[in-house]
Amino acid sequence: MNRNIIVFGATGKTGQLICKELERNELTYSVFVREQSISKMSSSSGKTVSGNVLNADDVKLAFDGESFSDVIIALGSKDLKGAGIRSVGTKNILDALNNAKIKPHIHAISALGVGESWSQLNWFGKLISNLLIKSTMNDHNKQEGYLKKSALPCHIIRPVGLKDGDSKGEVLVQNEGPLPSNAIQRVDVARFLVKSLLENKTGVSGICQKK
Ligand SMILES: NC(=O)c1ccc[n+]([C@@H]2O[C@H](COP(=O)([O-])OP(=O)(O)OC[C@H]3O[C@@H](n4cnc5c(N)ncnc54)[C@H](OP(=O)(O)O)[C@@H]3O)[C@@H](O)[C@H]2O)c1
Repeated sequence: MNRNIIVFGATGKTGQLICKELERNELTYSVFVREQSISKMSSSSGKTVSGNVLNADDVKLAFDGESFSDVIIALGSKDLKGAGIRSVGTKNILDALNNAKIKPHIHAISALGVGESWSQLNWFGKLISNLLIKSTMNDHNKQEGYLKKSALPCHIIRPVGLKDGDSKGEVLVQNEGPLPSNAIQRVDVARFLVKSLLENKTGVSGICQKK
């Protein structure tokens, strides 16, 4: 199958690693990036669409005249007040795809602790999620709601805490019971996402580093 991929959040810490992984697999991809962040991109084999994901018209432009097989959503924000980047951005993407002739596969990064995976967090994860990143978790909750309602095939990836640095190897996928590790390297999330994309994986994957 010929892939034509677009990445939202391509300039982020995980997004950049996803792009590298797509390149390593010789996959063609376009990116949607904010004007002020274009310089963070090294290269992409497809087009670069500049825009704000909170602006529905900007997002529509990304899909104008081009059909994508896969849409990767690695959107995030350091703004803990929560501007709804993940949920509003995802909704704008799904709305823009309403009339798409070819229905793409969505691959989105959420977080462990969202929805029924709350019970998979240990006490420390629950504390952090409630005290420090409540708005982020709410945003991911809404984001997942939009994805689950969508008619498009979706793979929702729920990683534990993300770490920078080299790969630490295999990823454990577990959707029930507490995960054995609180951390995963961003590079291993990127590799898991691209491998799953190539396998057309759908559903939900709670992931951490395999011990
Ligand atoms: N940190 C953790 O431990 C952890 C754990 C589990 C899940 N997660 C989730 O994993 C995801 C990725 O995290 P990350 O740390 O890799 O994210 P990040 O480095 O903060 O990257 C966020 C990306 O979203 C883009 N973005 C933000 N606002 C935008 C807008 N209005 N329009 C277009 N693009 C916009 C950013 O673009 P700019 O370059 O222009 O800012 C950037 O490319 C997030 O959803 C996060 O909640 C994180």
